[in-house]
Amino acid sequence: MAKTVGIGITGGIASYKIADLVSKLKNNGIDVIVMMTEGATRFITPLTFKTLSGREVVTDLWSESLEYKVQHIGIAEQLDLLVIAPATANFIAKMAHGIADDLLSTVAVANTAPVLVAPAMNSDMFKNPIVQDNIKKLQSYGYHIQDPDSGMLACGVVGKGRLPAVDVIYDRIMSLLYPKNDMAGKRVLVNAGSTCEDIDPVRFIGNRGTGRMGYAIAREACARGAEVILVSGKTHLEAPANVKLIEVWSSQEMCDTMLKYQPISDIIIGAAAVGDFRLAAIAEQKIKKTDDGPQSVMLELVGTTDILKEMGKRKQGSQIMVGFAAETENLLENARKKLKSKNLDFIVANDVTMEGAGFATDTNVVTFISRNGEVVSLPKMMKEEVAVAILDRVVNLLQA
Ligand code: C5P
Repeated sequence: MAKTVGIGITGGIASYKIADLVSKLKNNGIDVIVMMTEGATRFITPLTFKTLSGREVVTDLWSESLEYKVQHIGIAEQLDLLVIAPATANFIAKMAHGIADDLLSTVAVANTAPVLVAPAMNSDMFKNPIVQDNIKKLQSYGYHIQDPDSGMLACGVVGKGRLPAVDVIYDRIMSLLYPKNDMAGKRVLVNAGSTCEDIDPVRFIGNRGTGRMGYAIAREACARGAEVILVSGKTHLEAPANVKLIEVWSSQEMCDTMLKYQPISDIIIGAAAVGDFRLAAIAEQKIKKTDDGPQSVMLELVGTTDILKEMGKRKQGSQIMVGFAAETENLLENARKKLKSKNLDFIVANDVTMEGAGFATDTNVVTFISRNGEVVSLPKMMKEEVAVAILDRVVNLLQA
């Protein structure tokens, strides 16, 4: 049966791009119901979307409908997916707080289908912590977020906030409408985030890992039907929905937790930025600075356990293990060594000195190196897309 997608357009300049999206969906046999906020109709007319979608465009909560007994409920009931694109800061805030004061926001509250939100706005607005908190809140309810691109914005500023290309949104819609269920019945153990090593009761040594890569893998594995255990060090990210999240602090805690769940896991992915050194002894009291004279404190560091290496020694027959190698030089050579020493099936290598790669970026540029020597280099991609590519590869190994 044909799928029905609700396209909710809110008042941003990028709303003109949605004409292409609606046209592409229609051409591929998807039924589209376009809903527009009052603001959106200032940018582009409902007539454009009526012509492209072949259906009445709904804009008014109070208008009588011949098709539905109660318009907003009738529309919500038909949807297999609700897409809000472009999503303004205002509309994101309304959704995050369940406000239903126009047709589209009321459909959003009545809707029970999955939701994809594509924020698009000025970069300062996008960075605003209130907007970010609202986006995180939506994520915690299981909403899918299509991260905006960086580039020249309509306001003349260069920054993050552009609506991604229509093809990117279209692909995301298709994967949500027709989810791959190719990891059903598999248990995936992923670690993510940075570990922290205490110096004294108030200080610690951390690192720049944000957890974004591992969290994207956890989300994608879950979407593909896997049962996911996410062992997370420090991160500011919201817990993914439907994932068993175990929060840890130190590398030793992370190691103990990973080893505990290893025997019941089919797939193990080590995406955490695990600290390589910890304090030889943690001070029981806060280390005091002296009142005068030069300040200097010596900290003795000792190596931590390499979690993946430890797990590699205990790897069971069909278990699949994937690790990462963040390198600043001799990428392939160093990654190959790690692949071997950690007994991995493949390693995801990246040169962290490259623009758009490594820690604290939204994108990554990775090369897969397999046990059989195969090397596959991918172009610069969003970390969410890298997660898809990693799991496609894992599924190939499962089927081999
Ligand atoms: O050796 P290196 O730290 O560069 O290896 C990176 C890979 O090993 C990552 O997948 C990381 O999660 C994992 N690792 C680990 N335990 C450590 C250090 C790194 O599992 N102590």
